[in-house]
Amino acid sequence: MPQTDLPPFFSRTTSGELQIEDTSVGTIVDRFGSPTYAYSRAAIESAYHALDGAFGERAHRICYAVKANSNIGILSVLARLGAGFDIVSYGELARVQAAGGDPAKTVFSGVGKSADEIRGALAAGIGCLNVESEAELRRIAAIASEMNRIAPISLRVNPDVDARTHPYISTGLKDNKFGIAIDDALPLYEWAHAQPSLDVTGIDCHIGSQLTDVSPFRDAAERVMTLAHQLAERGIELEHLDLGGGLGIRYIDETPPSAADWIEAIRSVVDADPLARDLPIWIEPGRFLVGPAGAMLTRVEYLKPGEHKSFAIVDAAMNDLMRPALYGSDMAIVSAGTGTGRRLARDWEIVGPVCETGDFLGHDRALELAEGDLLAVLGAGAYGFSMASNYNTRPRPAEVLVDGDTCHEIRRREPLESLWALERLPPGD
Ligand code: LLP
Repeated sequence: MPQTDLPPFFSRTTSGELQIEDTSVGTIVDRFGSPTYAYSRAAIESAYHALDGAFGERAHRICYAVKANSNIGILSVLARLGAGFDIVSYGELARVQAAGGDPAKTVFSGVGKSADEIRGALAAGIGCLNVESEAELRRIAAIASEMNRIAPISLRVNPDVDARTHPYISTGLKDNKFGIAIDDALPLYEWAHAQPSLDVTGIDCHIGSQLTDVSPFRDAAERVMTLAHQLAERGIELEHLDLGGGLGIRYIDETPPSAADWIEAIRSVVDADPLARDLPIWIEPGRFLVGPAGAMLTRVEYLKPGEHKSFAIVDAAMNDLMRPALYGSDMAIVSAGTGTGRRLARDWEIVGPVCETGDFLGHDRALELAEGDLLAVLGAGAYGFSMASNYNTRPRPAEVLVDGDTCHEIRRREPLESLWALERLPPGD
């Protein structure tokens, strides 16, 4: 593994201790225990400002994809910056509201919205439903009409663009379950336009996640614009274009485009088109806003050096951070504080206590370790805690928001009893 650069707002003191903003991770773990997720507030804010600034004078909305990290503390930081939200369940909408976010600036994506979710979203005054199939469009029209409401909708079109990312997180190919094939969209738009309970407000597309090249974004925007012209010819006027999320981040040695590159790729298409000149552009970034801001802090419990493989067993596992086990993702793991045991330099397998061989956080990591050392898994602010589970009856970690030299516990470590609080013993004989 190549040497890792630290993300913005992460640094080392002269004595080599890892800091997030002005707070040492040793202090965080002393206060909140291990494992713990720690996020830099300044990193989130600066990522947001980078995107926001890249739009310049153009009308836009940044709808943060809540699934990346749905802690209400994080959502409130983004809501205060003026963000809208992209949700995929009624639960996420309830979180947005609990965090002070505005449902009117929220879009609802997802292929399987239930009738209750659609009703709940309309009652809350959702900004737009991103519709992913003809069946869903019909269901929304019927529910809105029952409720005497007009549902703002956008069709999520599938532009058949290869995002060239991991197959599990590529969504814009015609074989994917997402969206409506762009070639089938026109008659559905015409149908929707004729429904009194529907208000056609936009076109939506999201082609995948962790993209490290801008050209698929440009291709998708071009296809969306072709459709926008066909709609205009039929008298269907749009109020926004939603071009999705997906901008990648650096985990190890990726070289993703910057915020400015991404927005420039989109603007190179829409700014040049008179039809789109005054149309607000919406985007749905998740990972870019919160990924680099977060680290999962974990302590080395045991070292098991071996002839073929050497294992560093840490107190975090696949249940706490699923990305390595689920996608084989490489995430940087750096030393964050030293324990008192004997130090050993090896290529370590960094593994957790869960009873599965797939339970690893990293392979072959050249580190000099001692028992009791603290490690930080970087880039863990997105799809880290939000995908964590209680597998092996392991309470999920605490989450801490670092703000300069102070930190706020935005989620406490789960108390053990809470793990079975909803369970009941069956009646005895
Ligand atoms: N919009 C929609 C409709 C999405 O499905 C997603 C992510 C996003 C926006 C945000 O994408 P982002 O900007 O974060 O790339 N668990 C996987 C990632 C799954 C992404 C799912 N959809 C991972 O850990 O890599």
